[in-house]
Amino acid sequence: MDKATFEKSAAIKGPMHQSLRHDSAHKHVAGSADYIDDIPEPAGLLHGGLGLADRAHAEIVSLDLAQVKAYPGVVAVLTADDIPGTNDVSSGGRHDEPLIATTKVEFHGQIIFAVIAETRDAARKAARLAKVEYRDLPFWTDIDGALENGAPLVTPGMVLKRGTPESELDKAEHRLQSTMRIGGQEHFYLESQIAMAIPGEDDDVTVWSSTQHPSEIQHIVGHVLNIPSHAITVNTRRMGGGFGGKETQGNQFAALAAVAAKKLNRAVKFRPDRDEDMAITGKRHDFKMDFDVAFNSDGRIHAVEANFAARCGYSSDLSGPVTDRALFHADSSYFYPHVKLTSQPLKTHTVSNTAYRGFGGPQGMLGAERVIEEIAYALGKDPLEVRKANFYGETGSGRDVTPYHQTVEDNIIARVVSELESSCDYQARRKAIVDFNKASPVIKKGIALTPVKFGISFTMTAFNQAGALVHIYQDGSIHLNHGGTEMGQGLYTKVAQVVADAFQVDIDVVKITATTTGKVPNTSATAASSGTDLNGMAAYDAARQIKERLVAFAAEKWGVDASDVRFLPNRVMVGAQEIPFPDFIKQAYFARVQLSAAGFYKTPKIHWNRETGRGTPFYYYAYGAACTEASIDTLTGEYLMDRTDILHDVGKSLNPAIDIGQIEGGFVQGMGWLTTEELWWDGKGRLRTHAPSTYKIPLASDRPKIFNVKLADWAENAELTIGRSKAVGEPPFMLAISALEALSMAVASVADYRHCPRLDAPATPERVLMAVERLKRL
Ligand code: MTE
Ligand code: MOS
Repeated sequence: MDKATFEKSAAIKGPMHQSLRHDSAHKHVAGSADYIDDIPEPAGLLHGGLGLADRAHAEIVSLDLAQVKAYPGVVAVLTADDIPGTNDVSSGGRHDEPLIATTKVEFHGQIIFAVIAETRDAARKAARLAKVEYRDLPFWTDIDGALENGAPLVTPGMVLKRGTPESELDKAEHRLQSTMRIGGQEHFYLESQIAMAIPGEDDDVTVWSSTQHPSEIQHIVGHVLNIPSHAITVNTRRMGGGFGGKETQGNQFAALAAVAAKKLNRAVKFRPDRDEDMAITGKRHDFKMDFDVAFNSDGRIHAVEANFAARCGYSSDLSGPVTDRALFHADSSYFYPHVKLTSQPLKTHTVSNTAYRGFGGPQGMLGAERVIEEIAYALGKDPLEVRKANFYGETGSGRDVTPYHQTVEDNIIARVVSELESSCDYQARRKAIVDFNKASPVIKKGIALTPVKFGISFTMTAFNQAGALVHIYQDGSIHLNHGGTEMGQGLYTKVAQVVADAFQVDIDVVKITATTTGKVPNTSATAASSGTDLNGMAAYDAARQIKERLVAFAAEKWGVDASDVRFLPNRVMVGAQEIPFPDFIKQAYFARVQLSAAGFYKTPKIHWNRETGRGTPFYYYAYGAACTEASIDTLTGEYLMDRTDILHDVGKSLNPAIDIGQIEGGFVQGMGWLTTEELWWDGKGRLRTHAPSTYKIPLASDRPKIFNVKLADWAENAELTIGRSKAVGEPPFMLAISALEALSMAVASVADYRHCPRLDAPATPERVLMAVERLKRL
């Protein structure tokens, strides 16, 4: 689309940029939104249960399934021998993730067989009756263990380098080294993983999967069954949350359901319960970040070197791109004159870690903010002052190039931060808090204001494409389909707004239909926050094609100039005549106008060379800032978030209500990651925090008591994105870094802010208490 057409389309007022409700909001709260387990079950449906390894690393010496097979209701027991194609569900074809383990298990909870039974209960009970003999092998489950044992990398690490940090680290007034440990996170989507496969004639199989990536499910099912993609249809109407946990983690359930369905010629459903889901699906990567920074007395960074070691689990999964994205965000919003960043994606004998909102970005950014905190405490400055001293400068300032050599062209971070600083009265409140802490012996308070700059695009260039399919039926109703998936984020609503806007019809005229590989092929995962950017543009392209045909038809039929055919709300104006939209469409049908189109979009400008560490991996950046105030109890370590103020940039919002929902949700989820959500594996490599009883996600009552969220309403994407909007799904997650740093300041107060508390994440009450005790002794 050229710039003029774009501006013209954006100038028309319509359903775009309106706070329309999420299309399913009322159904979510009423319980009438259909998830896969709500679909009427096909006759003869069978249910799957999983046989799981109870060793972290071992050879399977023998597997006796006699009692499993004999259990009443069991129809079949599947082992690797029952897989007609390749025994592999790894994403991206790395062939390091067997669907069913054969001779060796590499994490506690790995699938060693599957039971198919008449009921779910029978399948689950039977699965526990296997007799397995193992020969134990040495194992390690965490980053330290991996480093001590010289663990291999699951995928090659990356290096980003600019300038000459080696020699420059000695050339500033100050230098310090430190380490930060950053915990992982369980996705805790409300709907657990689930897949149902329905066999058809010949090779055909239809799979309903709770997945962010229907095309990958299609590929995986094709590989395990050894059948072509054209025989496989994957459908996804909605997920009850994905958060990255359904980018690749649905593969195994869909593959098992499909293998069983084709083998038995009956429909098969797999739905692990919460405990199983938590134990056997990948999580956010935890990291150990070691850094060495040189800086001057004004707080300006001169050179940085940092290494990010990550717990990747037993296979690669998405660990390559996740650890890459950590490095891409290890600059946060700061210019590093000399920098070297390295990643170490370590193999551990735990479930393979995967995508999670921010995709490594939050870990990289948190590391950068720790560097700032260390500098601030070393110099006795407010961390905000150090942040401002290091922000990327204006384009051409000489301080605008990232460690991956992309120039930051759309920098608004200074404006976002200064607006928030004044609107939330940061300076006065910080002074008041310092005074409060002097007078309060037990309760201490802290406040922190942190920035976000998040790069938008898949760093794998090929993934930045999307397709859409739009039909207009004879009655004027519109059917919309695109490659994106709905997980609660409001993508379907936003794309429907785009199409409704194009034809100037009410949003209800557009029917949003389940994502299916049969209508739009070769789709990317709905991920990297780019769902609306990509699918919105593809849908716009489809609508544009139909519109062009309609305009040409009307101009010819009524003998007017094409510029005299205009789409007005629910009607079309042809010359001086106004025709209701449905009547207009009916006439177009009788004139044999094609009322269906496939649209396509690919993101312009981006390119990336991982070998040289240079390129423009991101189309643009989304910015934001948050200020959080917290109180801690220095006797117990317990804390409260008293207040959070957020100013966030979504460009020109397509739907302010949905965007604010994403910001609130992202912040609270990020706060959970950095505060109460702790994953804990025991000495046998068993995840012990495998249920809500032991793993604490934030409750509604944990949200900041005062919570002000504002969109930067003056913001507009400098790039030609749909309606000049910006992606919103992941960036707000990182606003929660302000919560950790507010806790940190409260802790620091016990030693008069002389030391950086070095609070690791998650800052559980225990960790806060230990940090307080440590500082008291200094
Ligand atoms: N919001 C809800 N309600 N549920 C989700 O699962 N996933 C997040 C984010 N917001 C998620 C969510 C993640 S990880 C991503 S990448 C984006 O939504 C994906 O959707 P988008 O590209 O349409 O923003
Ligand atoms: Mo989001 S982690 O890119 O699914």
